[in-house]
Amino acid sequence: MHSFGYRANALLTLSVTILAIMCAMASFSDNFNSPSPSASVEVLNINRLQKLSNGDDEVSLTLNISADLQSLFTWNTKQVFVFVAAEYESTKNSFNQVSLWDGIIPSREHAKFWIRTTNKYRLTDQGANLRGKDFNLTLHWHVMPKTGKMFADKIVMTGYRLPEEYR
Ligand SMILES: *[C@@H]1O[C@H](CO)[C@@H](O)[C@H](O)[C@H]1NC(C)=O
Ligand SMILES: *[C@@H]1O[C@H](CO)[C@@H](O)[C@H](O)[C@H]1NC(C)=O
Repeated sequence: MHSFGYRANALLTLSVTILAIMCAMASFSDNFNSPSPSASVEVLNINRLQKLSNGDDEVSLTLNISADLQSLFTWNTKQVFVFVAAEYESTKNSFNQVSLWDGIIPSREHAKFWIRTTNKYRLTDQGANLRGKDFNLTLHWHVMPKTGKMFADKIVMTGYRLPEEYR
């Protein structure tokens, strides 16, 4: 005669095994989802381009960020972290990346949006390199699944340029 404890233990082992298999299947099935997100970022205004007292340049801009990230969501998606970064080259660093705005998208219903915003984080350069600077605006995302591996990707938008003069 098996004791109650033995049976409970066997049942627990079985359910843990089933759960593990379900998790593996969930993250595996995510591999078949080929998302097709879209995004565009428009610079509505350059509010300010100035030299700070320490000699570094700072810019303030107003952006219209619009994106449709709904296809990133599967039933295994917990949330999506998204940020927009200005990326440019300077004499000091071959690659500068400055986050301007970020957000957490909790569900598919919130994944199609547009937002008019000034940069939430300061865009300063280590030096006076921002006048007439060509830059990219890149929308990055990190998909956080309920189970399985996180994955990240981005959309690069090119062809932006800062004014030639301080203002
Ligand atoms: C921002 O972009 C969206 C989508 O392109 C557009 O519908 C909206 O009118 C724009 N908003 C502003 C303030 O420009
Ligand atoms: C901007 O994007 C273009 C096209 O993807 C790329 O060739 C260039 O290196 C990017 N510039 C920076 C500074 O990342």
